[in-house]
Amino acid sequence: MPALCQYTRLPLLKAWMGHMIILEAETPPAVTSVSSLFAIVSKFYRNRISFAQTEHHIAKISSAHHAFAVSSGMAALDVMTRILKPGDEVVAGDDLYGGTNRLLVYLKVHTGVIVHHVDTTDPKAIIPWLSSKTTMVLLESPTNPLLKIADLAQIACDVKERAPNAIVVVDNTMMSPYLQRPLEHGADLVYDSGTKYLSGHHDLMAGIITCNRDDLAKVTSVVTRHSYSVTEIDFST
Ligand SMILES: Cc1ncc(COP(=O)(O)O)c(C=O)c1O
Repeated sequence: MPALCQYTRLPLLKAWMGHMIILEAETPPAVTSVSSLFAIVSKFYRNRISFAQTEHHIAKISSAHHAFAVSSGMAALDVMTRILKPGDEVVAGDDLYGGTNRLLVYLKVHTGVIVHHVDTTDPKAIIPWLSSKTTMVLLESPTNPLLKIADLAQIACDVKERAPNAIVVVDNTMMSPYLQRPLEHGADLVYDSGTKYLSGHHDLMAGIITCNRDDLAKVTSVVTRHSYSVTEIDFST
């Protein structure tokens, strides 16, 4: 699908049949496809880089065995919430990115998932909500917008002890793997909106999912490859 060129002087970006060539842009263009990440990387590093290589490098900087690139941060969260079934319980923060809140409300209303919002700055506040029904603990640290901090290691430890089947998911958008790697603190799944600090310039749309568990990687792989797959670009032409 052709990418759109926005906020830049035309003609900067030519897109045809999924093949994108970034021309002499003074400001790297904002585009609607994660594929452009690779176009931009290729342009600046004068290198041929494949989609799989990019995921490999993101896994390395995230202390992860597996990494998946998808089209946006919300796509990443949507992929992970496919794990949830009606009646499953999610414990989430009380200050979350608006889109995350909206997706949780949607799941609550349309799929019967039960969501508890808790002040995650206090690890003890989460404990009463953990049970055998808890399927996911969804954390942001710092949170967006209030920049509240959660003790990821303590919470992950409490979850493993009291709800061993629950998955600890961390939205790492506000830090990027450069400053914080939640997998090192016990998280099971981590996602980043690549649109923010991961890219550094707000000039692309992408989402990244990382994990160490093979079972979660398998589920994530099935959904990302079938629903959110991105075009691999042949830079040799
Ligand atoms: C903390 C956080 N998580 C997730 C998202 C969603 O990311 P995206 O805009 O790439 O879908 C945002 C976007 O602002 C965010 O701030």
